Amino acid sequence: MTHAPLDALTPDDLRHADSYKWTKYPEGVLPLWVADMDFPVAPGITRALTERLSRGLGYHQLHGDAPLMARLHAKLRGQGLTDLPDEGWVHFLPGVVPGLYAAVRALTSAGDDVITMTPIYPPFLSAITDQGRTVREAPLQVTADGWRIDWAALDAAVTPATRLLMLCNPHNPTGRVWTADELTRLADFAAQHRLWVVTDELHADLTLDGTFTPFAAVRDDLRERTITLTGPCKAYNTAGLGIGAAVSHNPALIARLARAGQGLMGHPSALSVTMWRAALEEDGTWLAGVLAYLRGNRDFVADFLRERLPQVHFHAPEATYLAWLDLRATGHGAGIAEHLLAYGLALNDGATFGAAYAGYARLNFATSRAILTEALTRLERALT
Ligand SMILES: Cc1ncc(COP(=O)(O)O)c(C=O)c1O
Repeated sequence: MTHAPLDALTPDDLRHADSYKWTKYPEGVLPLWVADMDFPVAPGITRALTERLSRGLGYHQLHGDAPLMARLHAKLRGQGLTDLPDEGWVHFLPGVVPGLYAAVRALTSAGDDVITMTPIYPPFLSAITDQGRTVREAPLQVTADGWRIDWAALDAAVTPATRLLMLCNPHNPTGRVWTADELTRLADFAAQHRLWVVTDELHADLTLDGTFTPFAAVRDDLRERTITLTGPCKAYNTAGLGIGAAVSHNPALIARLARAGQGLMGHPSALSVTMWRAALEEDGTWLAGVLAYLRGNRDFVADFLRERLPQVHFHAPEATYLAWLDLRATGHGAGIAEHLLAYGLALNDGATFGAAYAGYARLNFATSRAILTEALTRLERALT
């Protein structure tokens, strides 16, 4: 893929009536918020969907799609999830967020505590609080080298009622790709406190620097206590065709999660199965082109902020297309998102990622360089 088609995207191309990203805010606002990319899907996916449509849209067979399972098994093995069993290792879901909710329901009881490291993708918090469990926040710490796990904060957050650790790897919103050392220490922490672990690894294919390590690959006994959530929608930009999967070395955990969602999840749609299969059949060229473009945009954001808005604190993400901006030194706090909207820019308000993050904002840079440039120019205008 060359960069020309991505560079050529304009707001007029992107604003269509069915796009949540582009219709939530008035025309004229640049929407760099929800985590969709502005890029078209891979041609191989479009071809597969067109072919599938030519064969009608009855129920997709319900006993699990063998080619999809075989390809997913192989892909996860390639990423380091070796020794997954042949049976009972996967349960398909209508998306990863339903998996977060079902895992909380399956692995904890009302009144239990659940620990997670903030700032965090907001459905982590709602999956806990909506279901009558209590969030124990362990804030990350920011160092000169970027966001790091605060081990003392984890120790302080865990209680005798804590049953579950919810991990985001790579991490939304900071873009950290947790290292094998960090994950091993987290596994030690989970073992010490007898915690279950749910690790949302939806952004793994969007690793820009360094090496992604699955949490369940770092310590053999902990993988028996871990559910990994994954799906195609971030790397392949297919969120409108919801599908995801819960995976574990421990089939009993998968059965528990399936029971927790029984009757509520529906079954994966024919088009979503076709789409994921096609994504897994891709040879990597399309994704490599997207990652190259994202790296360029990430570096462009970093350069722009360093030169024009040095008061904005920012550590370049190692994965994802999300930039987590600390705007507090510009004099802003609660209400930052509304302030930016008045300047024609829609970002996610930091406060939704944890109460302590008022004055932060999350910017989605998966758009054309021209739109990104205009968005950053509006940010500068809004903050100076
Ligand atoms: C970490 C993470 N998990 C889950 C989701 C949503 O997944 P789904 O649309 O499959 O429910 C997102 C979307 O941005 C995400 O960033």
